[in-house]
Amino acid sequence: MLLSELRTPCALVDLERLEANAAMMRQRALELGVALRPHVKTHKVPALARLQHGGLRGPVTVSTLAEARAFAADGFADILWALPLPAGREEEALALPRLGLLVDSLEAAARLGAAAEATGSRARVHIKVDCGYGRSGVDPEGELALALAERIHAHPRLELAGLLTHGGHAYSAPNPQAIAAVAEQERAAVVGLADRIEAAGIPRPRTSVGSTPTVMQAAHYRGVDEIRPGNYAFFDAFQASIGSCRPEQVAFSVLCTIVGRYPERDTLVIDAGALALSVDPGARHLDPEPDYGPLHDIAGLVRHPELRLQALSQEHGKIRVVGGLRGDAFPLGSRLRVLPNHSCLAAACHRRYHLLRGDRVIERVEPVRGW
Ligand SMILES: Cc1ncc(COP(=O)(O)O)c(C=O)c1O
Repeated sequence: MLLSELRTPCALVDLERLEANAAMMRQRALELGVALRPHVKTHKVPALARLQHGGLRGPVTVSTLAEARAFAADGFADILWALPLPAGREEEALALPRLGLLVDSLEAAARLGAAAEATGSRARVHIKVDCGYGRSGVDPEGELALALAERIHAHPRLELAGLLTHGGHAYSAPNPQAIAAVAEQERAAVVGLADRIEAAGIPRPRTSVGSTPTVMQAAHYRGVDEIRPGNYAFFDAFQASIGSCRPEQVAFSVLCTIVGRYPERDTLVIDAGALALSVDPGARHLDPEPDYGPLHDIAGLVRHPELRLQALSQEHGKIRVVGGLRGDAFPLGSRLRVLPNHSCLAAACHRRYHLLRGDRVIERVEPVRGW
């Protein structure tokens, strides 16, 4: 099937680019001397995670139990659920053998221990550490971090499997040097805490760090065992604007159709709105007037810098044509490709992705949905 035959709006994944991004990150992990545990929340498709691991079912990070179940059913054996374990879901999580779980409180650890006792199972527990992002996690230098490690280690049904941090504040860092500094915060947080835990006589847990920007800019990750970038599989306009990738590496786009043409006000309307693109305003700290993603021709090869996607409502996208909408340019019914600012969120809007080789759809895949 050709791009011109698809119903729009629809999600496109360029397999050549995805494979190149995957190979690049495997190489980056080798250079950094760390294992790679991609975060598969970006696409939520086991077949694409296998591509990321060069055909193998290697370690993965998931963001939901639904992903964990689907990846386990596909044969992935080493899965880490990187969300603080929600109260009430302990037994469901323990039903997946050896699923890595995250806690950042004594309360959550106690609940998990009780559920493991009640079900006769063992839990692999990771402590979530805050390296400065301020979203979740314990202070790596605080008393709670050590108390939590001791409590998990002492529990007969809990195994202290690792320390995990995510430098999400790299996304608002002003330049690559500042992103590298966040990577160092990630490293220092987990390595420092692992040292303290070891000094307290507890076996040293594994250390896990990473986001796409920090992994791309880290000077080194000495002492770290694994990285968990996710977005790099697709990359996106945001990553290009902060220097994680070049625009030609972006593997995810949304195909849309021009449904409105208004030369009197130099605007076009496309059939891709917030429910096809998500509403991520882009790197506002770098560009005070970002739009909702660059627009390209149907083949995704030629950028139209004069088209600015400036407003999204549920199913409409409004484009301002800088310099004027002239003659018969961009006729009704013609097609464009949007590179959304945040590919993970935009991909999550779609029930299927069309996998492309060149301009041919060679397969469709259905990502995991729900929680
Ligand atoms: C805990 C955790 N690890 C890893 C990642 C992957 O980071 P990125 O999407 O920048 O690749 C995320 C993304 O949100 C995350 O929340």
